[in-house]
Amino acid sequence: MKTIRDFDLKDKKVIIRVDFNVPIKDGIIKDDNRIKESLETINYAINHDAKVILLSHLGRIKEESDLAKNSLLPVSIRLSELLKKKVIFINKTRGSELEKSINNMQNGDVLLMENTRYEDLDGKKESSNDLELGKYWASLGDIFINDAFGTSHRAHASNVGIASILPSGIGFLIEKELNNMLPVIENPHHPFTVIMGGSKVSDKIGVIDNLINKCDYLLIGGGMAYTFLKAKGEEIGKSLFEEEYLDYCKKLLNKTDKIILPVDHVVSKDLESTECTVKEAIASDDIALDIGPKTIKLFEKYVHESKTIVWNGPVGMFENPLYQNGTKSICAMFNKNQTVIIGGGDSASAVINLGYKDNVTHISTGGGASLELLEGKELPGIKVIGEL
Ligand code: 3PG
Repeated sequence: MKTIRDFDLKDKKVIIRVDFNVPIKDGIIKDDNRIKESLETINYAINHDAKVILLSHLGRIKEESDLAKNSLLPVSIRLSELLKKKVIFINKTRGSELEKSINNMQNGDVLLMENTRYEDLDGKKESSNDLELGKYWASLGDIFINDAFGTSHRAHASNVGIASILPSGIGFLIEKELNNMLPVIENPHHPFTVIMGGSKVSDKIGVIDNLINKCDYLLIGGGMAYTFLKAKGEEIGKSLFEEEYLDYCKKLLNKTDKIILPVDHVVSKDLESTECTVKEAIASDDIALDIGPKTIKLFEKYVHESKTIVWNGPVGMFENPLYQNGTKSICAMFNKNQTVIIGGGDSASAVINLGYKDNVTHISTGGGASLELLEGKELPGIKVIGEL
């Protein structure tokens, strides 16, 4: 697959699709990791005398009122701080102002256009990979580099559409994601342990089905553990569970003994309460919100003997400090001799926000994209590269 290194970028208008879909509240960026992770590719293009045109989506645009709150303006300001240079921000996704600004660019200039999903307001043109839109955006540049790993499970006009027309390659971020994740999925060193959390079994079935035969152990925590425990016939009180997946869990538990479930729990009587206790047997009015100390010890035994670990999903409601201990303890279990891959989304935020970034091999910037990669699926935004 071609990468950005395979192109002569000098004097060229290089369109780079990045994933700047970052959490923003009241105009303040809450987590700029994705912006930071895109810098290597952007700086490479700047240093190789390209005119750098950046495209990204942000949030979902369904109605007029979604526009203002999903503008990329705050991102352009943060990007400019991180690059330590001016970023030309055009608050349009097409038209003469955008075209003129691009034509006036000098080598090394960086331009960010407005949220590509603004085009969704008029018939989902971006999200449904509208041919005309892809063609129009492709007409703005000479070369296309896809570095939006987090968006690569989507076939949008701004990734698949443009790549179907312009000479294309991947950037350093996608290259890093693939180099770290694919060997682990395809040929892991054993013992190989998968840790899974998050609230729903239904979100993780594809990953479980793809990895259960490849891994040695599957440690399950978080809300999803309680559908498994209920399937085993245990009392789970008022804990989260998915009725329609009880059968799936039962069958899986009968088929394999690789699955390790919590043996104790941090429980509370309601989500707002500031009181919690550790219990092995959940009472009928308890809600389980984190794994307990015995489970942490049990999980640690498997983690310590593993050479490869993939972790997707926090094992408790870690946003609340009362229920952080399980997720935090898992962050602290890894050592430098292990290959540890953190699937994106909440587990990535947990590892970064709890301060354990240096304890792991790779933290994916993709939520849905890393899940689909772990499911063994081909990602359309990557498959299209080099197909021309
Ligand atoms: C993500 O945050 O997972 C990607 O940016 C994709 O966003 P989407 O789920 O809105 O398509």
